[in-house]
Amino acid sequence: MPTARLIGESDHVDRQQWDERYSGTEFEWTTRPNQFVAAELADLPSGRALDLAAGEGRNTVWLAERGWRVTAVDFSRVGLEKGRKLSAARGVDEAQVKWIVADLRDYEPERDFYDLALIAYLQVSPEVRATVLARAAAALVPGGTLFVVGHDLTNLTEGTGGPQDPDVLYTPEAVRAELPGLRVVRAERVHRTVERDGDPAIAIDTLVRAVRRA
Ligand SMILES: C[S@@+](CC[C@H](N)C(=O)[O-])C[C@H]1O[C@@H](n2cnc3c(N)ncnc32)[C@H](O)[C@@H]1O
Repeated sequence: MPTARLIGESDHVDRQQWDERYSGTEFEWTTRPNQFVAAELADLPSGRALDLAAGEGRNTVWLAERGWRVTAVDFSRVGLEKGRKLSAARGVDEAQVKWIVADLRDYEPERDFYDLALIAYLQVSPEVRATVLARAAAALVPGGTLFVVGHDLTNLTEGTGGPQDPDVLYTPEAVRAELPGLRVVRAERVHRTVERDGDPAIAIDTLVRAVRRA
């Protein structure tokens, strides 16, 4: 199934709905990492990574295969269980990934601990997003990288797919403003080619890469 076709199409979905969505045997999207995650993070030296809203673990497993020790957090137990199985099937050492079922509205990652914090397609209210971004930033060691990718607001008018509620969509400007204390390396809109009704279409994402100042 194409990565972007169904991501976030229902708005304000809760934990139970995500569990249901992940309950099939197939992967909801793909077992490959998000293309921007793969392109941007492939060259980072491995260390400790935090994957917030890890879903079925496609990015977690990719990182673990590259030697990262990953803490993967999501409120969908079903999603994370699939991630754990994917990880085992790929031969990742069990000790390399910690799978944590938690609501990101409450979850506080260890501070000053991670070399990388990843947030991919967590489409939540601006308040929750700001909280999660602040906690992710605080979880980084000095010099650590924060990488955020999510459906962009302009997708509503110029792109395809993703949630249709403007409240849960990203802009590079909003994410940048929510990261005081970090040096923003990239904050821009990027395009993904997805399949729509059998034809290629463009999905627009916000991509932000930032580094915690020393
Ligand atoms: C579109 S999926 C993205 C999954 C993964 N990051 C990826 O790129 O494949 C969004 C994920 O956010 C999770 N999520 C949404 N709200 C959450 C919350 N409040 N706490 C924890 N996880 C949440 C969902 O369970 C879902 O797995």
